[in-house]
Amino acid sequence: MSEKKAKFIVIEGLEGAGKSSAVALVKQIITDHSNKEPICTREPGGTPLSEKIRDLVKIADESDPLCDEAECLLFYAARTQLISNVIKPALAEGTWVLGDRHNLSSLAYQGGGRGLMPLVKSISDACLQGFKPDLTLYLDIEPKLGLNRAASRGALDRIEQQEIEFFDRARETFLSFAAADNSILVIDASQTIEQVHEQIRVALAANLV
Ligand code: TMP
Repeated sequence: MSEKKAKFIVIEGLEGAGKSSAVALVKQIITDHSNKEPICTREPGGTPLSEKIRDLVKIADESDPLCDEAECLLFYAARTQLISNVIKPALAEGTWVLGDRHNLSSLAYQGGGRGLMPLVKSISDACLQGFKPDLTLYLDIEPKLGLNRAASRGALDRIEQQEIEFFDRARETFLSFAAADNSILVIDASQTIEQVHEQIRVALAANLV
């Protein structure tokens, strides 16, 4: 199986959807499938510069609040750096890549949540030029449930502190993109971890060919 073309698989979802445990499971499934561990990335982040941007977007600075458009540009600066320096080189040398978030997060959070869809789409088109994951698993959860789970893990960051309507809009956007693109599979993340993992196994068994 290792001779098959390396793929870019992405896990997406609102806070508290269970991305981390899904990433661990999918990493194992890809390793078994391709006979090699994938490179795991996170967004924003994954290169030294992109990790600095992660801090800029996650930590609030009351003296210089981040405006929505600047936030959007920072996510794309981090993403293009990661694609160019990590994701594309890995795929080119035959290594699978497993992403914890990618472009769909910007469409959902900045496009849907912040109401900046035209800006997000134009930056996305200009920066990514058609590059997209082979497969995305979107872990769907009600924002209230997810945020309660996230809050139980510790203090909420700048984005996690947004009002609930922001996450409602982000969720609607995730679901509307999933409905229009058969490379995005919706996983019901409100179930038990065992049930969620079973859905992921079934989805990947049918799609990792
Ligand atoms: P997380 O990966 O630990 O969930 O943190 C990333 C945060 O950044 C999360 O609140 C979602 C948000 N985000 C966006 O708003 N837009 C993006 O494009 C990405 C990648 C993340």
